[in-house]
Amino acid sequence: MEEKILIIDFGGQYNQLIARRVREQNVYSEVHPHTITIEKIKELNPKGIIFTGGPASIYEKDAPTCDTKIFELGIPILGICYGMQLMANTLGGVVKKALKREYGQMDVELDTNSKLFQGLENNNICLMSHTDYVDSLPSGFQKIASTKNCKIAGFANTSKNFYGVQFHPEVNHTLNGHLIIKNFLDICSCHGLWKMDYFKDLKVKELKEKIGNKKVLCALSGGVDSSVAASLLAEAVGANLTCIFVDHGLLRKNEAEEVEAMFANRSDVNFIKIDAKERFLKRLENVFEPELKRKIIGEEFIRVFENEASKIGKVDYLVQGTIYPDVIESGLGKSSVIKSHHNVGGLPDHVDFKEIIEPLRDLFKDEVRKVGRELGLSNDLVNRQPFPGPGLAIRIIGDITEEKLNILKDADFIFREEIKNHGLDKNINQYFAVLTNLKSVGVMGDSRTYDYTIALRAVETDDFMTANFSKIPYDVLEIVSKRIVNEVANVNRVVYDITSKPPATIEFE
Ligand code: XMP
Repeated sequence: MEEKILIIDFGGQYNQLIARRVREQNVYSEVHPHTITIEKIKELNPKGIIFTGGPASIYEKDAPTCDTKIFELGIPILGICYGMQLMANTLGGVVKKALKREYGQMDVELDTNSKLFQGLENNNICLMSHTDYVDSLPSGFQKIASTKNCKIAGFANTSKNFYGVQFHPEVNHTLNGHLIIKNFLDICSCHGLWKMDYFKDLKVKELKEKIGNKKVLCALSGGVDSSVAASLLAEAVGANLTCIFVDHGLLRKNEAEEVEAMFANRSDVNFIKIDAKERFLKRLENVFEPELKRKIIGEEFIRVFENEASKIGKVDYLVQGTIYPDVIESGLGKSSVIKSHHNVGGLPDHVDFKEIIEPLRDLFKDEVRKVGRELGLSNDLVNRQPFPGPGLAIRIIGDITEEKLNILKDADFIFREEIKNHGLDKNINQYFAVLTNLKSVGVMGDSRTYDYTIALRAVETDDFMTANFSKIPYDVLEIVSKRIVNEVANVNRVVYDITSKPPATIEFE
């Protein structure tokens, strides 16, 4: 690849998001750990380098660093958050610890004469998330951004093309952050030569070479990710692919039938549906803890696939539609575990396959949708809202019973139906009901009730790493609430979740 940006990973939650922002400008990027050697960097020959943020403080004993020769390569560098502090500390500036963490969307004063901030307003809302800060500049640097609490929120050494920002230009909570990334790519003299069809062709070729004539199972949920993964595989290995759809009893109302209708008749896919309701529900009996639920489900999925594989004969590979947010939230490298996605952190230690292949592991949801379109999948399928592998298990707080599942399925169905009826499904990226573990007192038909509370969740996001709660009109919420309490037994209260991500996550568990 002619134009490449190297992203050096210091363990931040948003690292792959940076890679994706670079890809959005049609520039190829690769994320490498901070331990990458200087020889390897030279071999990669990037046009620019980005240091990511990370949870550490540079003063911690094992704080991640990188080879300091990186500053002698003559390559432009952008340091973000921890990356900026590391650059400052290495090049002779001073980094200090604030008494209080600065977190959230802040007004940042930008010096728009700086190449990095061209096209932005002087005053820009940016997401800040830090305790340490740069207190004095390394020599050769000048200040290019500040906030009320952080006097050096951005710096530049224009003769060396080194830049640093204390805020996160890669998240949507920073206004026009994409322009900052684009400006940095201009500084690196990148022209934007990379496209998604290239990714598709590259993956099909790689999969063909890797799998050859061996047999492959694909874990198909009917969601966008696994459907795109299955279609890539179908194009690469044809009849050697068998897609397994596991009905674990934790699917939404009518979902199993819908998935079967979508795949059972496709001529390029061997499709098998497994009814595993009983074994999943049995293992989840009296399990309250979210991480344990996720691990049990992750393991059960694998055991079901192993079982099926043994019937087909020798199967070497299992393919999963894992995408990047699944990986990062399960705790990759130095980043913290937020939740173990069933297909990553929820996997058992021992797996009876030679390898698990995850062709979409570096992509975000909307990029996966683009690959889906390249593969000719229908708009209906490509635009489906995401549904997590552990299904309704992580939307029932606490233990799971058939009764609770039925309540949730009915309430969720009503919510989804009304969102569609009111044409809101185009703008809301994920919307569902949750059965809280809360019972409260109500009054219905002159009698006291003591029943469950349903929470409604709806978010707008393009990458599912950050999300804003959706401002659904009150009259629609009122219709949904009335329908749920009238049509679903054992529910007497409906609440709407008005938290964004962060600080909440999209799912409740
Ligand atoms: P959170 O709750 O982490 O969700 O903000 C981000 C996105 O990931 C989906 N999600 C999962 N998907 N397996 C999946 O396939 C999982 O274990 C899992 N957990 C969360 C969630 O629905 C949202 O779209």
